[in-house]
Amino acid sequence: MTLLAIETSCDETSVAVVRDGKILSNVVSSQTQLHAEYGGVVPELAAREHLRNLVPVAKSALREAGISTAQLDAVAATQGPGLPNALLVGFKAAQAVAFALSKPFVGINHHEAHLYSPWIQNVSPSPLRGERAGVRGSSIVGSSNANTSSTELSDPSPSIPLPSEGRGKPDFAADFSKFQPNISLIVSGGHTMLVLVESELKHRVLGSTIDDAAGECFDKTGKMMGLNYPAGPEIDRLAEQGNSAAFDFPRPLLNDASDDFSFSGLKTSVRYFLRDNPALLDDAQKIRDLCASVQAAIVEVLVTKTIRAAKRNNVRCVTASGGVTCNRSLRNELQRTCEREGFQLLLAEKNLCTDNAAMIGILAERKLAAKIPLSSLDEEIKPGWVLA
Ligand code: KG4
Ligand code: ZN
Repeated sequence: MTLLAIETSCDETSVAVVRDGKILSNVVSSQTQLHAEYGGVVPELAAREHLRNLVPVAKSALREAGISTAQLDAVAATQGPGLPNALLVGFKAAQAVAFALSKPFVGINHHEAHLYSPWIQNVSPSPLRGERAGVRGSSIVGSSNANTSSTELSDPSPSIPLPSEGRGKPDFAADFSKFQPNISLIVSGGHTMLVLVESELKHRVLGSTIDDAAGECFDKTGKMMGLNYPAGPEIDRLAEQGNSAAFDFPRPLLNDASDDFSFSGLKTSVRYFLRDNPALLDDAQKIRDLCASVQAAIVEVLVTKTIRAAKRNNVRCVTASGGVTCNRSLRNELQRTCEREGFQLLLAEKNLCTDNAAMIGILAERKLAAKIPLSSLDEEIKPGWVLA
C-alpha cells in the first residue's frame, strides 16, 4: 500500500509518502524561525504558513518518493489535537485529495502517532546506521527539512540521495515484528505524558502534565536567561559545559505516586532565583551551570517517573518521542537507566522526535491493515482530541 500523509497540527508543515512500513519521503517545513520573533507559536501565522507551504511540500514529498498521485492507495492526516486553523489546512486538503482520487481516508490522533514513532528506525545497511547516519540523514529519506522559503521548496534537491540511486542515503522503516508492551514517554513543547501501550493500537494514558509541558519549561526558563525561542536546544548545548550540581532546583512530583507531571513550580523557582541573583546572567559560565541544573531537574523527573511506571506495569520496554526527546541528556539518562534496570529502550530517531508526517502515515497504514473504520470525508478536525 502506498499512502500520502499530512501533518499540520502546530508549526511544522509536513507531508510523507509511506509504503508497507517504509518511509519513501518525509518533507518537513519548519516555521520555528518565523515564530521565534514572537517568542512562541502564533496560531494565525502558523495557519497562513501551512496554506502557503502545503502544496510545495506535498510536491516535494511525491517527487522524492518517485510517486504520482495516481499511484496512491490511501490518504491520511492529523485530525487533532492541535491549533484549530493549522489542523484545518492539512486535514481538509487531505480529505480533498482522498475525494478527488476516490481513495480511503484516515484521520489520525497526533499523540497516538507519536506512540509508534520509536518503532521507525534507520534500516540502512551499515555504515549508514547509527549516529553518523542520523546526522547525515537528519531530514529522513529525501527530505531537506524544507525551509519555508519557496525557492528551497521548489527545488528541495536532497543533499543525501536515495540508496536506490546508489548514493548512500539512510532508509527508514517501521518494524513492529518485535513489538512488545511498553511505557511510552511523549514529551514536547505542548505535552508531557506517560502511556501504557499494551499491544499495537491498544493503549492507556497513565498520566500527563497538570500544568506546563517539559518543553515549555525549557523554553520559558531559557527565555528568562535571555535565550531565543525555542530555548530547549540551546539549553541542551550550553548545559554540555555546565555543572548540573551548581544550583539545586525542585523536582516536582518526583516522589508522587501518580504518573502525572508538573513543571510550573520549577519554572517559578528559576524565576525567583534569577530575581534574587540577577548578576548571574553576566557570567557565561554561570549561565551554562544554570542550564545544566535546570536540565538535570527536568531530566531526573522524566526518567525516574518513566522507569517507575514501566516497573509498576510489568513491561520490559520503554519508548520515547516528541521534541524534548532530542535532548542529549535525556537520551543518555534513559539509555543508562534502562541498561541498568534491564529495559529495552527505543528512542525516536532525532528527526522523527519533532512533528512529522511519516509517523502519521505509519500509524494510518497499521490502522488500515487492522481494518479500522475509515474516516468520513465530512468529518471535522478535533483540536481538543484527548488520547484516552
Ligand atoms: O514536538 P515538538 O517539535 O513540538 C511540539 O511542541 O509539539 O517539540 C518542541 C519542543 C520545544 O519546547 C523545544 O524547546 C523542545 O521541544 N526541544 C528540546 C530540544 N529540542 C527540542 N528541548 C530540550 N533539548 C533539546 N535538544
Ligand atoms: Zn508532536
